[in-house]
Amino acid sequence: MKPGIEWRQARAEADNAQFAADLHAALGRTPKAISPKYFYDEAGSRLFEQICDLPEYYPTRTELALLQAHAGDMAAQMGEQVQLVEYGAGALRKVRLLLQAMPRDSVQFVPVDISGPHLLGACDALASDFPGLAIQPLVADFTRPHTLPPCPAATRRVGFFPGSSIGNFTPAEADAFLRLAAAELAGGGLLIGIDLVKDHAVLHAAYNDAAGVTAAFNLNVLERARRELGAEFPDDGFEHLAFYNPAYRRIEMHLRATRPLTLQLDGERYHFLEGETLHTEHSHKYTVTGFQAMAERAGFKPGAVWTDANGWFALLWLQGPRPV
Ligand code: AVI
Repeated sequence: MKPGIEWRQARAEADNAQFAADLHAALGRTPKAISPKYFYDEAGSRLFEQICDLPEYYPTRTELALLQAHAGDMAAQMGEQVQLVEYGAGALRKVRLLLQAMPRDSVQFVPVDISGPHLLGACDALASDFPGLAIQPLVADFTRPHTLPPCPAATRRVGFFPGSSIGNFTPAEADAFLRLAAAELAGGGLLIGIDLVKDHAVLHAAYNDAAGVTAAFNLNVLERARRELGAEFPDDGFEHLAFYNPAYRRIEMHLRATRPLTLQLDGERYHFLEGETLHTEHSHKYTVTGFQAMAERAGFKPGAVWTDANGWFALLWLQGPRPV
């Protein structure tokens, strides 16, 4: 066996052990709940890409249009000599629009993502489309303490966190991320995408698309448990449930048992009553002022705001604290 293949095998086993441990914990608590990070295996990531192109799912195309229209202004906020850190970089689709508006020889790009192979593949493609751009990928969980490459002299470090992914954090996680970002972006700033509170029907449709892609994305968590961990449960035992909870200003996604059933995992039996759910995701919606207040508490100074004509999505510039 080649060394690279052995490494991938060991990594897959470690990931499976973590997934199994987290799924046991998720099924053992009341109410049952698992982290949304388990959506994103290969099949789930493909489904998420399809979600981004759905007619009902407005966030991706609205944010892309904002970036297309205002990348020049956004780049101007960032400044001249910049180390640009993208949190949860993924496919690097959106950052291209920003990079096109920045002088290539004065930017060092640091995409941070937990998925090494995915990140490195995306960096290869970026390097061939942006020859001469300095790219220093970092494979890390950006929500945990990590070490960024040193910021060169006379260079500002600025962050980019698009996609309204902060909405999938709990309020405590969002606060912790903003504090961590404020510390590492001192002297620079953060450009962040947030999904805004809006008509409940628009939100409902975005998470209950007619083609059933979001349902497949949600159900993939348990399909993944079946594939990777040998979990056993009836084929039609669970259904997709997504609704807006106005008290918390969030979409909640759950997998709901269609009848009383048992899910078996490693010989453990977990019982579901009819209608009982496994909670899989929160997607928080913000107001611009509410989000700015949270960012201010974390150490940022709110700056420019770019939003669409409907007021559905916003990109916010947050100036970092003074360096210590
Ligand atoms: C990644 N994240 C911002 C998406 C969202 O809208 O909360 C994930 C998603 N869940 C269902 N559809 C899309």
